[in-house]
Amino acid sequence: MKFFIDTANIDDIKEAYDLGILSGVTTNPSLVAKEKGVDFHERLKEITSLVPGSVSAEVIGTSYEEMVEEGRELAKIAPNITVKVPMTLDGLKAVKTFSDENIKTNVTLIFNANQALLAARAGATYVSPFLGRLDDIGQDGLELISQVAQIFAIHEIPTEIIAASIRHPVHVTEAALRGAHIATIPPNVIKGLVKHPLTDQGIEKFLADWEASNKK
Ligand code: E4P
Repeated sequence: MKFFIDTANIDDIKEAYDLGILSGVTTNPSLVAKEKGVDFHERLKEITSLVPGSVSAEVIGTSYEEMVEEGRELAKIAPNITVKVPMTLDGLKAVKTFSDENIKTNVTLIFNANQALLAARAGATYVSPFLGRLDDIGQDGLELISQVAQIFAIHEIPTEIIAASIRHPVHVTEAALRGAHIATIPPNVIKGLVKHPLTDQGIEKFLADWEASNKK
């Protein structure tokens, strides 16, 4: 499973990219809205030049025509832009058009396996099942990852699964075990993945022993 970062914040993206673990970036309108005074297209240009992998940029329009017009403009920003499209009838139609034009797509707001299968058949490059938001309403987000991974494997579907709406490290481990190709993770959760109390204690003990031995 590969790691994407789920943010439009350039400092957080740089920090994660420097760790050598980052294969891509996802943004959404809420994440972009948090970046005050920033031009959306300018920020995308900056991100795409920093990270060589897929950078998802979401369309705002809800009709087929609006999505196609916006998506084509987004795709012109850089070759590594992936157009993020919501899971609707118009969205599926737009995915088909983008697929015919070799524009990569990420179908977002996936909450059941049928939606993922439909998106894949329309030609989506990626589908994004939202784990955390399903958990929030008492459903099992991780079970959805298992179902989609199984269906795609049975039918030899090349669309990649991005585990999205990740809230904590257990989501990351389980998404990997259940066959997600990618997890898109918020910056604070990426930092949390590094931490273990025994690692910290181990470092302290090694340093204390070294100091006590008076070795140079
Ligand atoms: C990523 O593509 C999604 O937009 C994101 O993971 C949603 O996360 P949230 O449910 O925490 O807003």
